[in-house]
Amino acid sequence: MEVEQLNQVLLDRLPVLISVALFTITAYAVSSLWNGKSTIPLLGAGSGNTAQRRKEYMTGAAKLYQKGYDTFRHQVYRMTTLNGDRLIVPPEALEELRNMPDDVVNNSIGLSLEVESKYTGLVTDSGFAAHMVRSDLTRNLNRINPGLAAEAEQTVEEVLGPCDDWTSQVAFTQLLRIVAIVSGRIFLGPELCRREEYIYASTNYTVHLFQAVKKLKSWHASLRPIAQYFIPELRTVFEHRRKARAFLAPIIQERKEAMKNGSDLPDDMLQWMMNKAEVNGVSDERLAQLQLDLSLAAIHTTTMAVTDLLCDVVIRPDLVDELRAEIKQVLDGHDGVATTHALYEMKLLDSVMRESQRWNPISQARFPRYMTKPVTLKDGTQIPSGIFIETPLGPVNNDPKLYPEPDVFDPYRFHDLRNATKPDPINYKTREQYQFVTVTKENMAFGYGKHACPGRFFAANEIKLIMIHILLRYNLRMPDGATERYSRFAHGATEAPNPTNEIEFKRVQPTS
Ligand code: HEM
Repeated sequence: MEVEQLNQVLLDRLPVLISVALFTITAYAVSSLWNGKSTIPLLGAGSGNTAQRRKEYMTGAAKLYQKGYDTFRHQVYRMTTLNGDRLIVPPEALEELRNMPDDVVNNSIGLSLEVESKYTGLVTDSGFAAHMVRSDLTRNLNRINPGLAAEAEQTVEEVLGPCDDWTSQVAFTQLLRIVAIVSGRIFLGPELCRREEYIYASTNYTVHLFQAVKKLKSWHASLRPIAQYFIPELRTVFEHRRKARAFLAPIIQERKEAMKNGSDLPDDMLQWMMNKAEVNGVSDERLAQLQLDLSLAAIHTTTMAVTDLLCDVVIRPDLVDELRAEIKQVLDGHDGVATTHALYEMKLLDSVMRESQRWNPISQARFPRYMTKPVTLKDGTQIPSGIFIETPLGPVNNDPKLYPEPDVFDPYRFHDLRNATKPDPINYKTREQYQFVTVTKENMAFGYGKHACPGRFFAANEIKLIMIHILLRYNLRMPDGATERYSRFAHGATEAPNPTNEIEFKRVQPTS
């Protein structure tokens, strides 16, 4: 950008920049005041200033969370993160915090900081979407499962292709397309989920938004008001929203006509949302935006889970055989149909999914919440208002008291716990709490408390259906005879599979 152009941009935005600067200075002053006065211990207090601690967090957050867990196991402490200083509360404190109302422990402000809503414009008050997922999607999983199963079968085959010989494919890219189409079947119906406009938006919106968030977070919070103008992905995010509105406007109009005329209505999330839109004051524009929000919540997360799962499975050929045997045996007992009950019976698959999630957290922390009122915990710790809290996830997943031999990837860990052939170190009321979808303070991959992910039941079924079709149709192997698992990326607390990793696929020859 030329200097003159830059000056013009800055001049045009001067009033906004001044307001943002004033807000940032005030927020910083309040936060410094509180940090200066706080009696709550600060992790790494003796090892450098805030900037140095932030830098350490950027490259070694997992180690810091582990250190915090080892040092302050049952205590609240402070840690410098990419979002400034946060209070890290021990998981047991969530029993007190999780049921507090949103105007005390706020979910959406915490989340909006995670995704930099101030700059990305992402609406994090997910009340309506969460309600729709809970009431219309999860409750109807049995009814929608045949459509989901058919879509998974067709899409896996189409995207991965014939693979008559060993064919190398970029796992994340292919799975992203598969997950987008399969999820889209339920979000927008069988026709729209295959339209390139939808696939492009749902896969790239997520990618661009996360790229923008990552770029924003690499700047200090006080500089982000300026940095936003130098991040092209942010403008692309706004363009996605405009295109989504343009794409869905005629479809919403058509469906409104059908609702008026009493015609048959589609059975998908867009329609379920439209049925409840007026009562909930949701505009057509917001309906379009909600589809993107839903893609963001569902597609990226599910794709990362399946990619990590494939990376864990591909280096264990024996496990592939054992999973196939289970899938075939369960399907045989259900006339070859992958009903929701059949999916429930695939307990080894469920166990491997959960073990993969334990090994591969997508964040080292969970329960990002903003305290809008002060709270005193049972142990006397005072949590002031105006503060962000979170709880560690990685160290909980690696705690040997909860998960014996945590460094071992044990595909049967949760299978054996569910079948009660292994002692239960946590002593849950029921062994069913070792399912993939069960949220406890020892298993927070899907969050915790009343805002825990409502889409996890759908995600579990979708992942199982995709895995069934991959495993039954294709043999898998690492390229170049590699036997080591692919490593993952980390940036601050966020972790992800490397999106360029390749896996080789070859069609399973039918046995005569
Ligand atoms: C493996 C896949 C997924 C993972 C790992 C995941 C993870 C999460 C996490 C960690 C949260 C925040 C919970 C908290 O802060 O306590 C969340 C919230 C949410 N997720 Fe998921 N999710 C997945 C799939 C899905 C799917 C498929 C959908 C929709 C069909 C979905 C819809 C939502 C919604 C609407 C919320 C907001 C809930 C609220 O604010 O009350 N997620 N998810």
